[in-house]
Amino acid sequence: MIKGAIVGFGKIARTNHLEAFQSEELQRSFDITSAVELDTNTRERCRKEYSRINFYESLDEMYSNDKVDFIDITTPPKYHKEIIEWAVAKKLNIICEKPFTLSYREAEELYNKLNDSNILFTPCHQYKYSPLWSEFKSLLDELDKDVKVFLQFNVFRTGADPGLNTNVSPWRLNKEISGGGILSDTGFHYLYLSNWLLGKPRKVTTINHNLAHSSFQVEDTSQVILEYDRGTIQINLTWAYHGRRNEAKLISKTGSIFYDGSNYLIKNFNGKEEKISVPDASDKSHYTSLYAKLFSDFAKEVQKKNFHKKGLQDAYNTIYLLDKCYESACKRKTIELRNE
Ligand SMILES: NC(=O)c1ccc[n+]([C@@H]2O[C@H](COP(=O)([O-])OP(=O)(O)OC[C@H]3O[C@@H](n4cnc5c(N)ncnc54)[C@H](O)[C@@H]3O)[C@@H](O)[C@H]2O)c1
Repeated sequence: MIKGAIVGFGKIARTNHLEAFQSEELQRSFDITSAVELDTNTRERCRKEYSRINFYESLDEMYSNDKVDFIDITTPPKYHKEIIEWAVAKKLNIICEKPFTLSYREAEELYNKLNDSNILFTPCHQYKYSPLWSEFKSLLDELDKDVKVFLQFNVFRTGADPGLNTNVSPWRLNKEISGGGILSDTGFHYLYLSNWLLGKPRKVTTINHNLAHSSFQVEDTSQVILEYDRGTIQINLTWAYHGRRNEAKLISKTGSIFYDGSNYLIKNFNGKEEKISVPDASDKSHYTSLYAKLFSDFAKEVQKKNFHKKGLQDAYNTIYLLDKCYESACKRKTIELRNE
């Protein structure tokens, strides 16, 4: 049994993380003994509602009372770096919500510390466990590597998720806390998915807009184009829609996938068409099952003391790509990317 503390007991912690840790398949692997939550009202309310968890105001207070093996960071991005540094000093394994850090500069500072440690760092890149994106990955693996591909992701939302504490102004709209708008929030998933599906891109071009929310200090809409030797990926994200919808396409001369936001996709490979069931990608309720798979892999590696750096590398590469997206949007030009 691995003992852990959740740091930042807000929406994602309560709705998906805790549910995954306490799921039938994981409840014998994990014991969430503790939580660190800065907000006093939240802490007091949660003490009553989650009576089996010890709530603390600070990391040090938690650690002097409960000897945990790992922390699960679910605070807004601004606080990730200082919490990771604290965990490195205490030699605790880490699960960390996306985005890894507020900026690429912060990620660079943390990268060496984590890389030199005997700590397993696992970013919450849970889309890689999704049956939908696994179908995209399998088709790309099946296609001849010379066949050029075009991928498109469309992610439409009504606005930024306010988080659980709706009494305070939403942190996602405050660049100093979030790092950016829809691109760094939801777009981050599609950047690590792109790295996973096609490897590191050669170039990126991004245009950011404020279509429906002109008063926001962060973008409400973003268009990203990634160029690869194998083809191109287009990511379209907006908070300027009147509903919640996801679509995706993979197009090539010999195979394609069309996903229109429902609970199936249409795959065509070598002239054969298939209808394949998948969970609705815009429905957050299935996230718990994706987190459960991610946490299960984390538990196995911690038990084997396999402190590999794959998660760290993935988080670091994605922050680099995010940084270059913003650079492209700011300079209004295509940015060449490093490829080592
Ligand atoms: N992977 C995903 O699909 C996904 C989905 C939603 C949110 N997230 C990520 O999860 C994180 C939290 O998002 P949320 O929607 O749950 O936000 P939220 O505002 O609902 O919760 C954050 C909580 O952290 C607490 N907090 C802030 N600073 C703290 C600190 N230094 N120490 C302890 N507690 C602190 C806040 O009081 C709040 O209760 C963000 O990084 C976000 O990007 C990821």
